[in-house]
Amino acid sequence: MGLEKTENRFADLAGCVPVREPQRQFYFMEEMKKLVAEQEKELGRKLTMHVATFGCQMNAKDSEKLCGILEYIGYQETESEDADFVLYNTCTVRENANTRVYGRVGYLGACKKKKPSMRIALCGCMMQESHVVEKIRKSYRFVDIIFGTHNIYRLAELMYEREQTGKTVVSILQEAEQIVEDLPAVQKYAFKAGVNIMYGCNNFCSYCIVPHVRGRERSREVCEIVKECADLAAHGVKEVMLLGQNVNSYGKNLEHPVSFAELLREVARVEGLERIRFMTPHPKDLSDELIAEIAANPKICKHVHLPLQSGSTEILRKMNRRYTKEQYLDLVARIRKAIPGVAVTTDIIVGFPGETEEDFAETLDVVEKAEYISAYTFIYSKRTGTPAAAMDNQVPEEVANERFQRLLKVVGRVASAQAEKAAGTVATVLVEEKNPESGLLTGRMENNMLVHFPGEEALIGTLVPVCLKECKGFYYFGEIV
Ligand code: 5AD
Ligand code: SF4
Repeated sequence: MGLEKTENRFADLAGCVPVREPQRQFYFMEEMKKLVAEQEKELGRKLTMHVATFGCQMNAKDSEKLCGILEYIGYQETESEDADFVLYNTCTVRENANTRVYGRVGYLGACKKKKPSMRIALCGCMMQESHVVEKIRKSYRFVDIIFGTHNIYRLAELMYEREQTGKTVVSILQEAEQIVEDLPAVQKYAFKAGVNIMYGCNNFCSYCIVPHVRGRERSREVCEIVKECADLAAHGVKEVMLLGQNVNSYGKNLEHPVSFAELLREVARVEGLERIRFMTPHPKDLSDELIAEIAANPKICKHVHLPLQSGSTEILRKMNRRYTKEQYLDLVARIRKAIPGVAVTTDIIVGFPGETEEDFAETLDVVEKAEYISAYTFIYSKRTGTPAAAMDNQVPEEVANERFQRLLKVVGRVASAQAEKAAGTVATVLVEEKNPESGLLTGRMENNMLVHFPGEEALIGTLVPVCLKECKGFYYFGEIV
């Protein structure tokens, strides 16, 4: 199936290229495999690849898919950036991520000068911005392939095009055309994995570039998600993290709408899976059904990441978050009541345009009241093309920096007080690794905190009960009980 005659984009491909996916990509992976094998023969060694990931869990998941394609083609992964094929999967959520990418691409250019057969590819969120692509085409002409967030599955095809034409290949789609499943992927960990449940975001928070670079919300079918989870569990995965920019709106655009709570229930039925996490819900529409499901289902981690962004109702309005300070605190209270012992974490931005000292004080107030166990804190970063970038009263850098320092102190104090409360109790942890220096095992608790404790390496990938002997603020030392 799928072997239909198609218009040929490549001069020397006289045969048939499959039109349908994923067959089309397997065709190009096989073609690239031949080219790589030829090059290996010439060089008398394996070809190497390096994939560097910037940004969030979604990008990490995309990188696993990209690595899967490169491995299938025959590349061997290496830590070194001086590899035969280097791919940067970029993030543009804040400006400093962009600056880092430009610096490192400059370094890759120097490597390529010494080794002209090297190939450099850039993909991900930054590439969805036209000014970025223009800059790279002008100032970093040595880059071979540029693609965006909607066509990562086409890596092999783009690589093939680069080899055939000898020219830089640029392929950026404004919207996703389809969700392509069943391509090879490598898994970073044997015992835990991220699973995409949806792509894109429809919320348009006024500071955020994500809806502009990741497109509109698209949910995967329940059966596809459950199948992927079952496959993972059959290969020894104990914990899955369900990934989406706003998981509460999961399933709304499916032909047969499904709620996120229903999806969780289905995933929890998968035999062999022991823990389920999810990222990220939006406070504006976190349902009682979802709270009840987390409370009732023993496989779902008792941890809710609930991005606050700001504690000021006025700033929240300008951010287009669609909840007030009071509604947020009420939601936290309802979650705590329904799920005893739940850990709540958050994201906070300081220095949003127009943020006054009073607004900032409201944020500190919520941090105290919500009793977070940890918080990701950010200084507002102006993203071209978002409504907030054009707002008056941008907060001076030194003011934002100073507030940020104060926020860190309060978050640190509140979080360690929370962590201290759990000292002396027994927590179930998923053992992730053995530290070669200390010889201690490291395990992750349901609330995502780390515990270090003595134990055998054979325990890696299993769930064990550990007594939290000593609290170190952001982590614990413990003992298996
Ligand atoms: N500036 C600073 N932080 C931002 N985030 C998103 N956009 C910006 C921005 N322009 C933060 C939000 C979000 C997290 C993933 O990144 O807190 O929840
Ligand atoms: Fe960005 Fe808001 Fe969507 Fe999160 S919910 S990705 S902050 S627009």
